[in-house]
Amino acid sequence: MKALVLSGGKGTRLRPITHTSAKQLVPIANKPILFYGLEAIAQAGIKEVGIVVGETQAEIRAAVGKGEKWGLKVTYIPQSAPLGLAHAVKISEPFLKKDEFVMYLGDNLLRDGIDTLVDEFKKKKPNSLILLAKVPNPEQFGVAELSNGQIRHLEEKPKNPKSDMAVVGVYMFDSNIFKAVKSIKPSARGELEITHAIQYLIDKKLTVLPHTVAGWWKDTGRLEDLLEANRLVLGSMKTRNQGTVDSASKLEGIVIVEKGARVVNSTVRGPAIIGEKAQVINSYVGPYTAIYHDTRLENSEIDNSIVLENSVVESVKRIEGSLIGQNAVVKQTPVKPSAYRIMIGDSSRVEIP
Ligand code: G1P
Repeated sequence: MKALVLSGGKGTRLRPITHTSAKQLVPIANKPILFYGLEAIAQAGIKEVGIVVGETQAEIRAAVGKGEKWGLKVTYIPQSAPLGLAHAVKISEPFLKKDEFVMYLGDNLLRDGIDTLVDEFKKKKPNSLILLAKVPNPEQFGVAELSNGQIRHLEEKPKNPKSDMAVVGVYMFDSNIFKAVKSIKPSARGELEITHAIQYLIDKKLTVLPHTVAGWWKDTGRLEDLLEANRLVLGSMKTRNQGTVDSASKLEGIVIVEKGARVVNSTVRGPAIIGEKAQVINSYVGPYTAIYHDTRLENSEIDNSIVLENSVVESVKRIEGSLIGQNAVVKQTPVKPSAYRIMIGDSSRVEIP
């Protein structure tokens, strides 16, 4: 069995972060989202992984390399344009050949990994196994209509969803899927949709079984989802201190202080993680916050947020529910007139009280 990981796409819902970096590499609890997927694949005993890459391929290749970190053998499959998930499958046929495979969308996060899914596929030998999860907002996903435990119909982001069972971004296929992806036509959004390809399998009377997610699942396509994924992962971590915490500081609850990090005269109330060589000085880091490597937080308070590499937060009263990109500076200034002075990237969002 092989794995096909999709790591292209433009990440439009995560701009401006994705103007400069791949959405799959945004860290959740200080680890790129994509790495959780690769870990799950390795854990399920799969060794050969094809990663479909697009415009951000240099960054993905630099982060993942040949996959040896996970005991994987990675092959990169460049996709000329983001023409859809089914298109990604189509161009991957020379890599996948006749093998069964799990397709994993690189921005999806599953608490319990994919072991049970892979086991069920091996045991029941359907042509496809589709992972489903009950969601409050099915119109934002592929939606499955079930009857008698069988998938009858799939719709991609329907305005009036027929059920609340969303198609999770992890699928299992045998080589029948190639016939399907070659037969379907692009959707209204100009993409070859994987939901249409699966519908083709259903219409041809092939066996497509549903498998409901047991633990939580997150598609991290939007800021709110990223923050929630960050909360879920941080909440399940264990306290670890490999940095320096001075005696005037307090660590409460689950707190991870990574190598070379410094906490000075501050309170960190977990679950929270302070990255390598980060400095937290005279500050408060509240629950569900991930401060990435080489950042500085000084005279500030922050919670329920993600701060990326090399950024500085200085003398800011309180930040919450935020994602601060790489090399960014957020600070208070004494310069008059006292006003907001902002230089933000395209498609950014600033909310001011
Ligand atoms: C894709 C699929 C959709 C699925 C979702 C899961 O949507 O097209 O059917 O529910 O992934 O993450 P996208 O997020 O690429 O728009």
